[in-house]
Amino acid sequence: MNTIENNPPARTVASTQSEMTELILPNDTNVLGNLLGGRLMHFIDLTAAMAAYRHARTYIVTAAMDHIDFIRPVHLGDLVTLRSSVNRAFSTSMEVGVKVWAENTQTGEQLHVASAYLVFVAIDKQGHRKTVPQLIPETPNELRRHADALLRREHREAEAARRKLEKQAHAGQSDTTHSKF
Ligand SMILES: CC(C)(COP(=O)(O)OP(=O)(O)OC[C@H]1O[C@@H](n2cnc3c(N)ncnc32)[C@H](O)[C@@H]1OP(=O)(O)O)[C@@H](O)C(=O)NCCC(=O)NCCS
Repeated sequence: MNTIENNPPARTVASTQSEMTELILPNDTNVLGNLLGGRLMHFIDLTAAMAAYRHARTYIVTAAMDHIDFIRPVHLGDLVTLRSSVNRAFSTSMEVGVKVWAENTQTGEQLHVASAYLVFVAIDKQGHRKTVPQLIPETPNELRRHADALLRREHREAEAARRKLEKQAHAGQSDTTHSKF
């Protein structure tokens, strides 16, 4: 069920920008002393949620983390900084982009280590979906991300439709198999 609000006020991308910095400790790492991928995904989910909250100003749930690139490892003792902003608002969902940098505390060198796209859906306290405000992209980069987010949504929908057909085909096959017995 969808709760339609009358024109919630549009917000700029800048008003959604969020940032988090973490010092990587032994508990965050694998046996090689590198940051665990799952831990990084947790940081990404949190930082992305901050941007989605700032846009929707209601409860949100993660619907998908559909693209993540781990470009290079993060080491024990590094400072990891994650920056997020909403790329595009749809009806009740929003795509958020997150970019991650690792900083060597001894040299100050900063490297881009990961990027990810997530989709959040806005809901009310009862779990009913809520319309999100429109997003206003202003800079050339924001306009590019806004356009790319629509292409990713189309790709996501096509992929979901493909998976649904595949599932139906498998279900059909197993029905045939079962009918033999
Ligand atoms: C996400 C959720 C609210 C979607 O509910 P639903 O009834 O399937 O919603 P619909 O299919 O009608 O789609 C609603 C919106 O979500 C988007 N959406 C739903 N599933 C999606 C997915 N897998 N990826 C991207 N977007 C998705 C739709 O595009 C639509 O967006 P729009 O309103 O902006 O056009 C529901 O699946 C849910 O509650 N999932 C569990 C969320 C959760 O617990 N997250 C934390 C787990 S780690």
